[in-house]
Amino acid sequence: MSEENAGVSEAEIAVHWGEESYFHPPLTFVAQANLTDPSIRERFSLDNFPEYFKEFADLLTWDKYWEKTLDTSDAPFYRWFVGGKLNASYNCIDRHLPQYSNKTAIHFVPEPENERIEHVTYRELWVRVNEFAALLRDFAGVKRGDRVTIHMPMTPELPITMLACARLGAIHSVVFAGFSGKACAERIVDSESDVLVTMDSYYRNGALLDHKEKADIAFLEAEAMGHTLQKVLVWQRYAGRYSSPTPMVDGRDFIVQDLLPQYRGQRVAPESMNAEDPLFLMYTSGSTGRPKGAQHGTGGYLSYAAWTSKMIQDIHPEDVYWCMADIGWITGHSYIVYGPLALAASSVIYEGTPTYPDAGRPWRVAEELGVNIFHTSPTSIRALRKAGGGDPDKYDFHFKHMTTVGEPIEPDVWKWYYENVGKGHAAIVDTWWQTETGGFLCTTVPALDPMKPGSAGPALPGIHPVIFDEEGKEIPAGSNKAGNICIQHPWPGIFQTIWKDPERFVRTYFAKYNKNPKSTDWRDWPYMAGDGAMQAPDGYYRILGRIDDVINVAGHRLGTKELESAAMTVPEVAEAAVVAAKDQIKGIMPEIYVSLRPGVEPSEELRKRVSEAIAKEIGPIARPRGVYIVPDLPKTRSGKIMRRILAAISNNSGDVGDVTTLSNPETVDIIRTMHS
Ligand code: WTA
Repeated sequence: MSEENAGVSEAEIAVHWGEESYFHPPLTFVAQANLTDPSIRERFSLDNFPEYFKEFADLLTWDKYWEKTLDTSDAPFYRWFVGGKLNASYNCIDRHLPQYSNKTAIHFVPEPENERIEHVTYRELWVRVNEFAALLRDFAGVKRGDRVTIHMPMTPELPITMLACARLGAIHSVVFAGFSGKACAERIVDSESDVLVTMDSYYRNGALLDHKEKADIAFLEAEAMGHTLQKVLVWQRYAGRYSSPTPMVDGRDFIVQDLLPQYRGQRVAPESMNAEDPLFLMYTSGSTGRPKGAQHGTGGYLSYAAWTSKMIQDIHPEDVYWCMADIGWITGHSYIVYGPLALAASSVIYEGTPTYPDAGRPWRVAEELGVNIFHTSPTSIRALRKAGGGDPDKYDFHFKHMTTVGEPIEPDVWKWYYENVGKGHAAIVDTWWQTETGGFLCTTVPALDPMKPGSAGPALPGIHPVIFDEEGKEIPAGSNKAGNICIQHPWPGIFQTIWKDPERFVRTYFAKYNKNPKSTDWRDWPYMAGDGAMQAPDGYYRILGRIDDVINVAGHRLGTKELESAAMTVPEVAEAAVVAAKDQIKGIMPEIYVSLRPGVEPSEELRKRVSEAIAKEIGPIARPRGVYIVPDLPKTRSGKIMRRILAAISNNSGDVGDVTTLSNPETVDIIRTMHS
């Protein structure tokens, strides 16, 4: 835990929770559940590691069956299902055709309510993925192993683009559409993508946003960083009608729908990939400014996404499943696209904001489509609750199962979700995991374990966590002490490395508790998640939040350094410090404290520019709740900014701790007065 950030407020939210009582899943749920075998945790005990993961791999169709479950010879760079060959797009589409050809794969719900829902069948998905794969290959020159950056909103064309890449064996790198052109550029450059796939526009909160302008910024910024994109492929939100005020650049930008007719009817044989070939990169914030490209493999990742979708999301092919996350985050990759489609489910993609035009929207969608599995984040639940809840009971829908993911959920919010959205009849899973982990790590098994509001539950069967103190001593269950949650062993969904930075991979996730860097025994390489956690006497884990300099806003990880660097692009700003402030809706929001260069006067205009700079460099989700211009930031004698003190002020905590070691203790009272 870095010293100056030791008091991140996120941990406090949970630490003050008392013990909650259990809720049991309804018998009707248990009767139809996929996983009801009470001996599962015994069968998946550490003694049987890693062979029990065969059950995961067997949910997939392999071109060539694998020979070895796990190769640890280059630990912690693991190889899963060694010798196996498969294709992810084949597993998510082709293999379902004999049985589910005309079943809906994707229900696309546009944000404008007067636009009809589009239903893409598995056969249509197959046709569209093949045609776009042919276009990518023959027009854009994309081949096996190439990286393709995708900066697209929530439309069916996004998974079509991802699956077309997977079909060719190209590695996709999806950038959240809300991210800026600049953020997109950094990811283009790091992944060395020659092709950017984007969309002209999309609806968000009632407005048709210009998205194409971000592609132009991304192109120019990448070029300034020394990397030139070869082609920009632009999908039209409305086929046949270009809906962006930003002009197309001749010879560089191409409208996908103009090109597609040339590929009509073309079929592309799915590339047979090695199990450990990378499937995608997903960039995530770390404790230094540069985002990390988490590299996920094909066989391990897909089997993990499929098994957890089947057993924890309880997806059956006849279910209509709606995960309200964005595909631009790992949750959308694993639990909108790869997991549900591998199981031949019908997956809902919603373009817009859950509370648009009112909080009743999600329930109207659920009623119209007959959604019976629902998946969202505490932030969305809080937002819906604040917007009045939209009267779920007025609508005719019944969720058998609901998920919460992304941040700790307060027990009160959990109960509101259970009673109002679930109408008291849904099994809820609170799933704890990360971009890096590919799929769930801690969660209840919905038909086997009772729910406990605010707790992620025990570990997933087959996952064996341990909580370490700073010295690597195990903190036992029931000790009422928090520590660093680690996983004792690898699992198929774990990311393979940080793209182009294996050293950082080892340093960030393994070095702290590794005793022998030469060891090829997985027992010597516990995976450190970077979250604080404690374990109740019943074995349930309660996740307290990040221990490093990362702020989790509305379930999105933002690096404090990234935000601070963005603020520093305003020339008048001398220093900046970002802290996590508790917020009623978003859970956590950034607040930023800046000091100015000598001679510059504080002004409202300047505060706005700092806020704008962050929204522009990173994206509107990072926009701080408050910008405070202060005469000086509290610092240690060695010059370290004391974020802990600022965080206490942002969270109106009376106790800012010991300030005697500061070089400028007088700043604390000044800043406190300015904040209140
Ligand atoms: C936090 C999102 C408490 C945690 C899947 C983790 C959670 C980070 C939960 C990963 C949960 C995720 N309860 N905290 N159920 N789920 N987190 O990479 O701090 O966007 O490390 O992956 O979110 O965020 P990421």
